[in-house]
Amino acid sequence: MTHLWHPFADMSAVERDGELVLTRGVQASVFDSEGTEYLDLTAGLWFANVGHGRTEIADAMAAQAGRLAAYSTFGDMANEPVLALADRLAAIAPVADSKVFFTSGGSDAVDTAAKLVRRYWSLRGHPQRTTIITRERAYHGMHWGGTAMGGIEPNRSGYGDWGADIAHVEWDSVADLEQVIDERVAGTVAAFFCEPVMGAGGVHFAGEQYLQQARELCRDRGVLWVSDEVITGFGRTGEWFASSRFGLEPDLVLSAKGLTSGYAPMGAVLVAPSVTEPFWDGTAGAWRHGYTYSGHAVSAAAGLANLDIIEREGLVARVRDLEPVLTETLASLVDHPLVAEVRSGVGLLAAVQVDPNVVKRDVSAVPTIVSALRSRGVLTRPLVDGSLQVSPPFVVTPEELKRFVVSCWEALDTVLTTR
Ligand SMILES: Cc1ncc(COP(=O)(O)O)c(C=O)c1O
Repeated sequence: MTHLWHPFADMSAVERDGELVLTRGVQASVFDSEGTEYLDLTAGLWFANVGHGRTEIADAMAAQAGRLAAYSTFGDMANEPVLALADRLAAIAPVADSKVFFTSGGSDAVDTAAKLVRRYWSLRGHPQRTTIITRERAYHGMHWGGTAMGGIEPNRSGYGDWGADIAHVEWDSVADLEQVIDERVAGTVAAFFCEPVMGAGGVHFAGEQYLQQARELCRDRGVLWVSDEVITGFGRTGEWFASSRFGLEPDLVLSAKGLTSGYAPMGAVLVAPSVTEPFWDGTAGAWRHGYTYSGHAVSAAAGLANLDIIEREGLVARVRDLEPVLTETLASLVDHPLVAEVRSGVGLLAAVQVDPNVVKRDVSAVPTIVSALRSRGVLTRPLVDGSLQVSPPFVVTPEELKRFVVSCWEALDTVLTTR
């Protein structure tokens, strides 16, 4: 009987069926305690950008832990790797001269940003600007604020009223965003939070035109733009940040995951100069916000070693090269009778959508496909809309992607023939 309470899990099923215990990883593969190899099609949970088993990162972490594992960065305190990492991030941020606020992960970054935009408007003399606008299908982490902000209903329901100033808009409509800003919550909007490509909601991309028009609208109405790049950051879309690829010039960028490729927990909020101003010119005094592990030295060392690898091996360019390969390789899956569509085309991000009618009729169909894939040596997971997540490490090979397609076709067949 397990004593581990697994996140996002039906523990009665875990107790009944057992756990998959992973022991090591190499490149785009992980191995379980029996020695079975699996292709890691999800990069852990969208984070293992440089792949698994990088001893270079482990060595950098060990060396830092032996010197100084961690110390608070509150007030004027700092450590060497966190200073270096802040400068590295500022150099690749979508907006020049951004400042970097470190967190323990993505959900911390979301809540940090939600507080920051409200504090900013208060300092600017607009304390009524407290509403945060987010999109249907959005995922912004699992803290209180991020859960309230999310647009995935099953994640929000069952807790009562969230009591937060949140307005949800259609995920792909600039007209709806405009209506909400100008009418529904007129005069109270602090910021619009936007995943350039939605991840957990099912890998949905509203298009470059949507992003640019929504950005222009927010700029025009004085609404701060927050790009949630916890998934899309650090090369996933073929640029350091999707915001740069689509020319969004965000006021804030939220990041985590690929910052360390998951070798240590860490997040970072990149803040453009227009927003940092009142915090740096003395207006704000001390901003009473931060976490014990904001700027954790071992995590920062992991981040630096991770960025070294991405740069040295040209992994961002590799994602650009693999983008059409992924699309072409997955395309044949739409011919399977159980597949409604394959969403791809932006970086190493894709989803194989199982026919929504099948998903609705038979809740076990997608989990069955996932488990048939697992027995064929491929690890993926179902997203909330009944699609399969495809977001491999950047070191994945075209042959491995082909192997997934063959296994996926077979796994889909198991459902087709048993129902
Ligand atoms: C877009 C987005 N924002 C925030 C988060 C939360 O990050 P974390 O799980 O590290 O708290 C995630 C996690 O998947 C995410 O995809």
